[in-house]
Amino acid sequence: MTATEDPRDIVRRGYELASHAYRGDTFALEGSRYEYWLGRFARRLADGARVLDLGCGNGLPVAYELAKRFDVTGVDLSPVQVERARALVPGARFECADMTSAEFAPASFGGVAAFYSIINVPLEEQPALIARIAGWLAPGGWLIATVGQEPWTGVETDWRGVRGASMYYSHGAAEHYRAWFAGAGFELVEQGREPRTGNPGYAMLLARRAGTEG
Ligand SMILES: C[S@@+](CC[C@H](N)C(=O)[O-])C[C@H]1O[C@@H](n2cnc3c(N)ncnc32)[C@H](O)[C@@H]1O
Repeated sequence: MTATEDPRDIVRRGYELASHAYRGDTFALEGSRYEYWLGRFARRLADGARVLDLGCGNGLPVAYELAKRFDVTGVDLSPVQVERARALVPGARFECADMTSAEFAPASFGGVAAFYSIINVPLEEQPALIARIAGWLAPGGWLIATVGQEPWTGVETDWRGVRGASMYYSHGAAEHYRAWFAGAGFELVEQGREPRTGNPGYAMLLARRAGTEG
């Protein structure tokens, strides 16, 4: 990454080259690193709830699974990812947008899922993003997010074994996220790690926006 390169361009270009290397057109949920946390999130939400899948990728498995019970909107920075998601998950709607500047009506979602996506956003922008997410959630709404376990910012080259593909990551430590979540009005309900034996792996946070459902 050069000093002037926008991390978003790295992410967009990375998925142009490596979308399929990251995720195929099918996904076996059972036993995957998504199964437990998707289950923990979904069981909190009422049937038909509006759910936002932030950094939805090609829609598998998150939007695909959530669309079985909920009204799902997926958002992703990468046109390739959005195009694939529209084809793979016809039961949800998808927008190509940057989650740090996308606009949604206040308190308009019952749940927000951000699996492995906030970690592509520059760290200094993440606290404001977490506060924006809190604003999109109805009081009592739920957030499931993959965040950093230990601090690291950098670019992986030949990402996912694809020559010329790079990927930008920016992680804080899990305790930073705990503080940012609390500052944004979230109550942390569960914290874990994925993969469970990974080193350092990622932190998984399940949190509830303060307030009582309407
Ligand atoms: C590692 S993939 C995860 C996809 C999906 N959430 C999953 O777990 O299968 C990260 C996704 O986040 C998207 N992304 C990264 N930064 C973003 C941003 N600022 N706004 C929206 N999407 C973003 C990427 O384009 C990519 O599709």
